[in-house]
Amino acid sequence: MALCLALSSLQAQDLPHWTKQGTATQLIVDNKPMLLLAGELGNSSASSTEDIENIFPKLKRIGLNTALVPAYWDLIEAEEGKFDFTLIDKTIAEAKKHDMKVVFLWFGAWKNSMSCYAPLWFKADYKKYPRCYTESGKPLEIASPFSENVFKADSRAFVELMKHIREVDAKENTVIMIQVENEIGMLESARDHSKTADRLFESEIPNELKKYLKSNSKTLHPWLAEKWKKAGGKTEGTWEEVFGKDIYTDEIFMAWQYAAYVEKMIQKGREVYNLPMYVNAAMNSRGRKLGEYPSAGPLAHLIDIWKCAAPGIDLLAPDIYDKGFTDWVSQYKLHNNPLFIPEIRLEANDGVRAFYVFGQHDAIGFSPFSIEDAPDDGNYKLTKGYRKLKELMPVITKYQGKGMMKGVLFDGENREKNIEWDGMTLVCKHFFTLPWDARATDGSIWPEGGGLIIRLNELEYIVAGSGIVMEFKTPDEMKGYVKKELGEDGFVASGGKTTTKEVWNNGKRIGIGSVDEVSVDSNGNLKYLRRLNGDQDHQGRHVRIGVDDFSILHVKLYEYR
Ligand code: DGJ
Repeated sequence: MALCLALSSLQAQDLPHWTKQGTATQLIVDNKPMLLLAGELGNSSASSTEDIENIFPKLKRIGLNTALVPAYWDLIEAEEGKFDFTLIDKTIAEAKKHDMKVVFLWFGAWKNSMSCYAPLWFKADYKKYPRCYTESGKPLEIASPFSENVFKADSRAFVELMKHIREVDAKENTVIMIQVENEIGMLESARDHSKTADRLFESEIPNELKKYLKSNSKTLHPWLAEKWKKAGGKTEGTWEEVFGKDIYTDEIFMAWQYAAYVEKMIQKGREVYNLPMYVNAAMNSRGRKLGEYPSAGPLAHLIDIWKCAAPGIDLLAPDIYDKGFTDWVSQYKLHNNPLFIPEIRLEANDGVRAFYVFGQHDAIGFSPFSIEDAPDDGNYKLTKGYRKLKELMPVITKYQGKGMMKGVLFDGENREKNIEWDGMTLVCKHFFTLPWDARATDGSIWPEGGGLIIRLNELEYIVAGSGIVMEFKTPDEMKGYVKKELGEDGFVASGGKTTTKEVWNNGKRIGIGSVDEVSVDSNGNLKYLRRLNGDQDHQGRHVRIGVDDFSILHVKLYEYR
C-alpha cells in the first residue's frame, strides 16, 4: 500500500504540472520549468500520417520545442463508438523523434464557434444532438451546450483520447498540455435562444456565482465590476436582475453555460489523465459587436464567469490576429490568469514579440499559427529569436516572478520607453532611432524591435532581443537629459545648437564597464563570445542590438562622479 502511494505520488509529481514562483506561474515539464517556444499547425495539417511525417522535421528546423496539434473528433470517431488514434500516435512518435513536446487541441463540439469537427453521425442527428438557435428561431451549426447528449458524445471521445494518451505517453510525457475545444463562442446571437436556454435565462443565477460575487467583489474584472454595480450589486436574482437588462447580460449567461460544460469535460478528462488544460479565445476586436465576434468565449472581460463556472481550467489564452499586440497580451496577464499565446498571426515580428512576452509578462509560451508555412532556412526571425530564447530559458525561468525582468517592444510609432528601476532609469529605444541604418529614414516600415532585460544586480544586466538601443542613467543625469540627434559619425547631427548652460549638482553618473555578447549553457551559465566596445557601444555610451540580429548581452556598469 505504502509503495503504491509512493508510486502514484511520484507519477503525479512527474506529470507536467504548475508551480508558483513569486508572481509567476510556471509549467513544470520533466521536472523543470519550461517555456513553450511553440507553433500551431494549420487546421488540416495533421489529418494524414504522411503530412505529419513531412511537417515535423520542418518544425524542428524552425526551432520549436513544442507543437500545438489538432486532435480531430471527426477522424478519431468517424464511426460512432469506434476510436482510431492513428494520427495521435503518429504525432507523438514524430514529436519524440524530433525531441519536441506536443499540446493537443481537442477540436470537439466546437471549433471557432462552429461544430464542423463533430463527426457526421453527430451532425446529421440534429434531434439527438441539438443546435443553438438565434432569437428568430434559426438553428445554427453550433451544438447546444445545454444538451446532455452533446456533452455525452463529446466527452466520451475526449475521455477516450485522454485514456489513449495516458496509455502511450504517461512514462515519457511528450504530451504536456491539452486545449479543450477551440475558440468557443456564439455567433449571430449573443446567447442561445432555445427553450431550455430561455428557461434558464429566466431563472436565478447559480449558487456558486452568488458566492463568488460576494467573496470576490473587490477583485472582479473592471468591466464586470462596473456592469454589476450599475445593476445594483445584487447577489440574488435572475441574470437580468443581477447584471442588468442588456445584451451583455445574454453574453454573461451564455459564458456561464459554456464554461460549466468545459468544466465537466475537464473533470472527466482529468479523472483518467491529469494534464494541464486551457481554453483559447477569439478576440472581441475591430469594433465587432456581440454575435459578430464569438461571444461568451473565454474572453478577458468574462474571466470571472469562466473561472467561477470552470475552476478546473488552468488559463484563458488569447489568439492574437489584430493590431495592438502589447495591449491584447496585457489584458490576459491577470492576477488570476497566467499568459499563454496559443495563436498569433505568423510574421517576422513574432521573434521579438516572444522576447517581449517572456520578459514583461512571465509568459508560459508563444505559438504562431500555421507554423508549417514559416521559412525553414534558419534565417527566419522567429527561428533566430527562438534559438536565443532556448539558450536563455534557464536564466528566464530562474528570474520569473521576482520583479527582476522587464520586456520592451517598439515599432515605427512607439519608439521609446524609460524604465525606472530602483533609482536607475533605463532609456530604451528602437534601434532605428539611431541614424546608422538607411532603413531608419528611407521610408521602410520599421520592423518591431525590443527584447527582455534582466537585472542581475544594481550594476549588472542581461539585455537580449533584437532592434534595441539602451542607455543607463541616474536620476541626476535624467534631470539634465536632452535628446540629441546623432550624426552618422556618432557626434551630434549638426553643431552650434547648444544654447543653455549646463548645471550639474555633483551627482553620480553611470558608465558602461563592459558589454559582452554571451551564450548561455544548459545550466544557465553565461559564456563569453565577444567584447562589444568602441563603435559597437558608441564609445561606452549605449548598448544595442541591430534589427537583423538576435543577441544576448551581458552588461556591467559602474558609477562615477
Ligand atoms: C483561429 C482559430 O483558432 C484557428 O484554428 C484558425 O481558424 C485561425 N483562427 C485562422 O485561420
